[in-house]
Parts: sequence; structure tokens; C-alpha cells
Amino acid sequence: MKQYFRFAKKYKKAFLLAPLLVIVDVFCEIVQPEMMSRIVDLGIRQKDIPYILRTGGLMLGLSLLAIIGNVGNIWYSSQGSVGFVTELRKGLFGKIQEFSFANIDRFSSASLVTRLTNDVNILQQVVMMSLRLLIRGPLMLIFAVVIAVGIAPGLGLIIAIAIPVLMVSIFFLLRKGIPFFIQMQGKLDKVNGAVQENLINVRVIKSFVREGFEKKKFAVSNEDLMAISIRASSIVALIMPVMQLVMNISIVAIVWFGGNKIMAGTLQVGQLMSFISYVTQILMSLMMLSVSVMTFSRAGASSKRILEVLDAGIDITDSPQAIREDRKPGLGKVEFIDVSFKYHSGGGEYVLKNISLTAEAGERVAVIGATGSAKSTLVQLIPRLYDATEGQVLVDGVDVRNYTLLNLRNGVSMVLQQNELFSGTIRDNLKWGNPLATEEEIIAAARDAQAHEFILSFPAQYDTLLGQGGVNVSGGQKQRLCIARAILKKPAILILDDSTSAVDTATEAGIRAALDRHLKNTTTFIIAQRIGSIISADKIIILEEGAMIASGSHEELIRSSKAYQEIYYSQQEKEVPAV
Ligand SMILES: Nc1ncnc2c1ncn2[C@@H]1O[C@H](COP(=O)(O)OP(=O)(O)OP(=O)(O)O)[C@@H](O)[C@H]1O
Ligand SMILES: [Mg+2]
Repeated sequence: MKQYFRFAKKYKKAFLLAPLLVIVDVFCEIVQPEMMSRIVDLGIRQKDIPYILRTGGLMLGLSLLAIIGNVGNIWYSSQGSVGFVTELRKGLFGKIQEFSFANIDRFSSASLVTRLTNDVNILQQVVMMSLRLLIRGPLMLIFAVVIAVGIAPGLGLIIAIAIPVLMVSIFFLLRKGIPFFIQMQGKLDKVNGAVQENLINVRVIKSFVREGFEKKKFAVSNEDLMAISIRASSIVALIMPVMQLVMNISIVAIVWFGGNKIMAGTLQVGQLMSFISYVTQILMSLMMLSVSVMTFSRAGASSKRILEVLDAGIDITDSPQAIREDRKPGLGKVEFIDVSFKYHSGGGEYVLKNISLTAEAGERVAVIGATGSAKSTLVQLIPRLYDATEGQVLVDGVDVRNYTLLNLRNGVSMVLQQNELFSGTIRDNLKWGNPLATEEEIIAAARDAQAHEFILSFPAQYDTLLGQGGVNVSGGQKQRLCIARAILKKPAILILDDSTSAVDTATEAGIRAALDRHLKNTTTFIIAQRIGSIISADKIIILEEGAMIASGSHEELIRSSKAYQEIYYSQQEKEVPAV
């Protein structure tokens, strides 16, 4: 709850005025039947025209005030609820931007999308409803009971019976219905989740011709939702007739007992009329409250999911020391000191084991190893995409945790193995790495990444619009744009995680030559499968199941490392010579 207050704070006025205006509305409305009864009993019976006019005028005035109260309440409730969720969405989005990779591992993107759209919308409805009905219902109820009993204390017994009867029946219906509503919300989540995941992976589904399977999967969750929705609504559908029944029985009883009182002269006709109005009000208010309870029960799950995001602890943040010192990576020397690492979601197994290595400033370091040998994991520790579980990663002799994330990641540019472009022009995408880059710098970076030429081959050149995720460029072109984007940051450390896997060998050699020429002083980590990509590196590191089994230059390793020889000769299509 406390979390939510900070999003409502900006709309304090709306949150205060909406309930206040409801009070005005309720007050002006609730006295109307009472005044009507006075017009009938005093004005008409005694033919007191001025009294009728006065009271009628007053009623008219109060009606106007009620309208103002009601419209004002709707206005401020909408403002409050829309404002609240706008802030909430902003807060959630901001929080997700701060998420570390570990946080993202925990929430799937489909579930985050649902949380940010569907769950937030449900919360908006609840806030709107709270501001409209939550005060109105009980207030109406109390006022109506007090006035009705004041009019005819003798008939109070009917209210005293009708209210508990209706409450008990609604209670039972809700008790049966609410679990269905909660389940319904769960099923709705499944449907939403299925849609999100399907849309994100639509290309994979098509390429595996799994549309039929997906359709079936979707039909199952969709029909589940239907079944539970029908059960839930059939219970809710009972509430209305029950209420009608209670209401009609009450009215018959009131007319019966009230009629006797009128004949005995202890009750006036107008009073009986207004009494009936109040009883109707009372029962309606109870209905309103039950609807609120229902909506609240449905919203509980949404709120829980939103709070999960808001309360998620972010494990990678700026330390106070880092903020105080505000240092930036300089030359780009990288050291791993006895680093071990395990993923939180990885079941307690160490993925990296006791890695110690040094990359001097400006060195080219290649990391090779079988798939799953933790190459990506190793380099992800440098820009702190994850934090080392044990040991230390140092950049220029300083623990990476003692840089602010902004400074560290500005200094360490990484082309991720699964890289993405954004919708927008090629220029926008490149400048994304460095918004201040000049046209010359952009072109230079594109040239180094061997992307300039194919960019020029597009009719709109650097203004070519890329689709979401860069769908309209080839895999190799996409990789080159991602490299250009990373180079444009002019980093002290550049990490290329399998970034040229889709690029032909000649182009790759071009990129390598450009890096040697123009990024001489940049420490570069290259993860690659092709031996040609790494042979010229100053240092080659071989990983096997998370352990570093050898390191050195090509010349050193070809002499000393059996594992390296195997990799080398298997790619040379030559026999491993007997040593
Ligand atoms: N986010 C994650 N959560 C849990 N485990 C992970 C995660 N990412 C990777 N792993 C596990 O860590 C190990 C190393 O993975 P990593 O991606 O570092 O390998 P890699 O050497 O880069 O492989 P490849 O050559 O296929 O890219 C694997 O066993 C993998 O299952
Ligand atoms: Mg990898």
C-alpha cells in the first residue's frame, strides 16, 4: 500500500476532492425523499402553496448541488485514477529499466508486458471505483437507515430483517463467486501470457511450422477462461434476482404494515412513500458494496504482481563509494582475481570456477571454448551485467563495483551475443551508443564495422528505417550495425561476444584490421568460434566447463596446449600431428 501512495501523491487534490464531492452528492440526494414526503404530507394536505414552492425550490437547488457533486466526483475520480496509473506505469517502467540481468532472468518479458498493461488497467478501475463507490455506498447506507428509522421507527424492524438477509445471501454468493473470479484472473493471465509469448516468438513458430500446436495451446487456455468466466458470471447473475426478491418482499411488508399505521393515523402517506425510497436506497447501496468487494478481490492478484515488480530488489546498483568517487575507466586494463560465478536461477552450480587473468590495456584477448563453457558469462562480468559471486573483477586496478554503472558501461562497450536493433533509422540506431556523435564519427564507425558500404547500397542510406528488432537487414548486416554502434561509444574496453558469427571471413578480417588500426588502444575481448578470428590475438583463453584450462598467444598454445591443438587442427582440416 505504501508503495502506491507515492504514485498518488501528485494527485492529492483529486484524491481529497473526489470523496468530499461524494459527500455533497450523497447528502443532497438523500434528503430528497424526505422533502418530498413533507410536500405531500404538509404542503398538499394543508394546501399550503408557498410551502410547496419553497420546499420544491429547495429540492431543485439541492438537486443542482447533487449534480455538481456527482459530476465533480466523476471528474476528480477520473483524474485521480488516470493520474495515479500514469505515475504507476512510469514507476514500473523506470524500475524495469534499472533491472539487472538477474532480475530480467526472473520475470519473463511476456509477464512484464502483462503487468504493465493489463494489471495496471485493472488497478485503474479499482481506484476509479474506490473514489466513486467506496465512500458513496456506506454513506448512503448509513444516512438512509438513520432517516428511515427517524421517519417510522415502527417499520425499522423490516430494515433490521432485510439488511441481514440480503447481506447473508450476497455473502454466500460472493464466497462462492470470488474464488472463481480469482481463478478467472489467473486464466486471463494465461491467455495474455500465451498471446505475448506467441507474438514475441512468431518467427520461430512459423519456421518450425508450429502454428497448429500454438493454436491448440491457445484454444486450451482460451476455453479454460471461458469455462471459468461462465461459472463466475452465473453466480453473479444470481445476486440481482436475490436482491430483487428481498426488495419486493420488503416493500410488500412495508406497504402492509405502513398501511395499517396510516389507517391508525400514526403514519402519513408521504412518509410511507419516502420510507420505501430509503429502503430501496439501502438495498442498492448494499449491492454497490458487493460489486466493490468483487472487483477488489479480482484486483488483488494484479496488485500483487505489480508490487512484485516494484519491490524487486535490484542487486546491481551504484555503491555510495562509486558515486562519491565518480571515477571513469581510463586505459582499460582488465583483471580477474580468482573469480567464481553462479546464476541465481541456475540451481547452485558454479558456472565459472576460479578464473584469474589479466588483459593489459590495449591488448586483444580472445576467449574460446565449447558452447556452454561460460564464455559469455565470463565477459558479462566486466560491464557488471552480473556481479561475480566470488573474487573480484578489476578495471584499471579498481573493482568494477566501485565505478558507477553509467561510467563503467560508458567505458565498456559490449556487443551481446543476442543483439537487437531498435525501430528507427540506421543513424538513430548507431547514435544510440553515443547521442553526441557527429556525422563523420558515425561514418567512421560504420566503415570500421564494414557496414558503410551496405548502408550506402540502401536507397535511403543512413536514413533507412529499420523495423522492430532490425527485421529488414540480414543477420550479418545486423551484427555489423551492432558493432558500429558499440565502436561509436569510443570505449576503453570493447567486448564482441560472437559478434561476427554471421559475417563472412573476408568482411570479418576487414573488421579486425579496422579495429587494429583505429582502436589500437582499446582493450578488446573477442569471443569467436572461428580460429581465424582469434589467431592474431595477444592472448587466447580457453574455457572448458567454466574453468580456464589454458591461456597464451597462438604460438605458445600451439606448442603447449593439447586442447588448443585440437581446436586449431580440426579447423585446418588437418590431422593433429603426433607430438
Ligand atoms: N541467465 C542464465 N541463467 C541461468 N543459467 C545460465 C544463464 N545464462 C547461461 N546460463 C548457463 O551458464 C552456462 C554457461 O553459459 P554461457 O552462455 O556463458 O556459455 P557460452 O560459452 O557463452 O556458450 P555459447 O558458445 O553457446 O554462447 C550454461 O550452462 C548455461 O546453461
Ligand atoms: Mg555465449
